Amino acid sequence: MSKIKKHQSDWENLGKIDPLWAVLSDNSKRFNNWNLEEFLETGDKEGSYIWEKIEELDLSIKTERILDFGCGVGRLARFWLKHFDSYTGCDISPSMIEKAKEINSSKAQFIISGEDLSILNSNHFDFIYSGIVLQHMPNKKAIYKYLLEFNRILKPNGLLVFQLPSKIPWQFKLQPIRKLYKLLKFIGFSDNFLYNKLRLYPIKMTAILDKNLKTFLENNNFEVKEIEADTYCGPRVESKTYYCQKIN
Ligand SMILES: C[S@@+](CC[C@H](N)C(=O)[O-])C[C@H]1O[C@@H](n2cnc3c(N)ncnc32)[C@H](O)[C@@H]1O
Repeated sequence: MSKIKKHQSDWENLGKIDPLWAVLSDNSKRFNNWNLEEFLETGDKEGSYIWEKIEELDLSIKTERILDFGCGVGRLARFWLKHFDSYTGCDISPSMIEKAKEINSSKAQFIISGEDLSILNSNHFDFIYSGIVLQHMPNKKAIYKYLLEFNRILKPNGLLVFQLPSKIPWQFKLQPIRKLYKLLKFIGFSDNFLYNKLRLYPIKMTAILDKNLKTFLENNNFEVKEIEADTYCGPRVESKTYYCQKIN
């Protein structure tokens, strides 16, 4: 199985077993313990923060079409629908998309994007948002590939806001939970058993140093308007939110 197929299968399994926890991994909410309204309120709060920041930075933004890349169960869909005429959420996992349709208004459009973004037209979106997604890509190369795709599908002057860790402490880099999960799965244990009985999961974390990422973005048709430290990954992992405008 290719790396991206394995990655897709990991998210598909998480989407079937415990979708809300896989999206927001608060330990007290594990094993389907999120209250749905409380969960959706976290999306309202996150969206409001980003929206206010866009206003504060005085960034030019049109509000026809938004893409929520790696939307999961559409935690932010209802917030973005307050500001955009059309909302599209895309995700690699069909089970996440199924859940997104179940819990959101029919005004939100959800699509399974598969292994890349080739199903999306060029110069199409006014705004792309992506939080806690790129950090889970199998490697840095995949992150760079998606950033180039975001540039292709944004309209000229379209805005991209995304989050990514810039540094992961070595203790986290070892990722023992993920390694054990992979080993036991290889031996033949089921995803359900590994998750529910052994409390293991396959989530991966990838980071890119902010100065390297800024250079990449600037070399690839983006103007970087702001890089802000954020708290998406908790207190011990340095994470940043990037506000970038497509140049032409
Ligand atoms: C931690 S969840 C975050 C979901 C959502 N962004 C949120 O904040 O509520 C990460 C999501 O990214 C999706 N994902 C991972 N890799 C992806 C890819 N290559 N293309 C699209 N979605 C992807 C996963 O299936 C999962 O639903």
